[in-house]
Amino acid sequence: MSAAGKTSVGMIGIGYVGLVTGTCLSELGHNVVCMDIDAEKIAALKDGQIPIYEPGLPELIEKNKERLTFTTALEDIFNNCELVFIAVDTPPTFTGDADLSRVFAVMSSLPGLATGHHTLVMKSTVPVGTGNKISSELVRQDIGNIDYVSNPEFLREGSAIGDFLNPDRVVIGSRDQEAGEKVAALYKSLKAPILKTNIPTAEMIKYASNAFLATKISFINEIANVCEEVGADVTTVAEGMGYDQRIGECFLNAGIGFGGSCFPKDVTALKQLAGNSGYHFQLLTAVIEVNELQKRRVVNKLQKHLGTLTDKTIALLGLAFKPNTSDLREASSIVLASRLLGDGALVKAYDPIAIPYAAKAVRGILLCDNILSAVKDSDAVVLVTEWDEFSDLPLAEMKKLMKRPLIIDGRNFLDPQTVRDAGFTYEGIGRN
Ligand code: UGA
Repeated sequence: MSAAGKTSVGMIGIGYVGLVTGTCLSELGHNVVCMDIDAEKIAALKDGQIPIYEPGLPELIEKNKERLTFTTALEDIFNNCELVFIAVDTPPTFTGDADLSRVFAVMSSLPGLATGHHTLVMKSTVPVGTGNKISSELVRQDIGNIDYVSNPEFLREGSAIGDFLNPDRVVIGSRDQEAGEKVAALYKSLKAPILKTNIPTAEMIKYASNAFLATKISFINEIANVCEEVGADVTTVAEGMGYDQRIGECFLNAGIGFGGSCFPKDVTALKQLAGNSGYHFQLLTAVIEVNELQKRRVVNKLQKHLGTLTDKTIALLGLAFKPNTSDLREASSIVLASRLLGDGALVKAYDPIAIPYAAKAVRGILLCDNILSAVKDSDAVVLVTEWDEFSDLPLAEMKKLMKRPLIIDGRNFLDPQTVRDAGFTYEGIGRN
């Protein structure tokens, strides 16, 4: 504890989760030592350059710079901090299991470094059972005096700071009550229920939450597909369902499927985890399959209007997996663009933020600087990401520039009547 009663916290892994969590903990008054093996990233952060796009993050880092330290040396963490968060990547392996090599790399560096008492706090999403294995291993190897706490994160990209400072809940899983209390104390100024439980339960809460949200999305996407067949409107169906408090209105926006670094990875990992223990998780198998098919349905919609897509020009508005982020991981735009290119179409795209990151993620598409240059000479526009900028499209100018006035609204973001009044053919997802 520092003189002011605030804690010194270490954060290993300054990716998206580590940087946001570390910064927000500094906003709560704690001193945070942020460590990453990527020397370039740490040098940039020391220089005030923020490696990711997240609204409000640069300002919060600047505001708390006195309490934030950036380093590449693990020693700086273990010499200064009792509470050490682990926020390294756990990407999927080719089998769908989570790759824990970065977590184990941290564990293998503990002997010799962790000489005092430390509490390791797992922020990375790890398969249920990992924490208990690590705790037992720490005891077996007799590595210093180390406790282990699971503290899963529930932040959404694009609204991560608000989510951290106003959480629906904080989940803490530990074997040792005192270790759990120390982690809980970090969050005591937040008005949120703190759920204390054992380690596997905390780990499962994370997977079950993401899998349930993904299930909600695949469910409403299937309802949307049926709406198209029977002349119903999915946006009104979702509204009508959402008034029922048992269902809730959130995550019922039909569209072209979920993406991002979390849902696809975590749903597959939970299915895999169940499979590894002998249980066939049928529902999640369907959730994943529905999502894959949903990304491809837009191609059918285009073909319905344009016939063959060979030599047609399709403009994508939005590439990021959701608005307010530069993240393209598992974005529906990538699958869609690849399918269109595979069918011989020319694909152009504009995204307000993700363009500089797009060249690496999707090859072969023409990246444009603005909406009008993307839609010029196109046979159709597909709205892929619901950025604010697209809420008020320059429809009259677009119509003049396009070869055919066709808009496929992959997020049900536009007002169909306004688009039709401007002389376009409009098609959404599950809307008639
Ligand atoms: C998700 C969870 O919402 C967070 O609670 C969790 O902490 C995070 O994963 C994680 O595990 O790290 P995130 O991936 O940032 O957060 O984004 P979401 O807002 O959940 O959206 C995920 C995807 O679902 C996006 O592609 C979005 O377009 C899609 N979506 C979301 C829909 O298609 N329909 C909806 O109604 C809502």
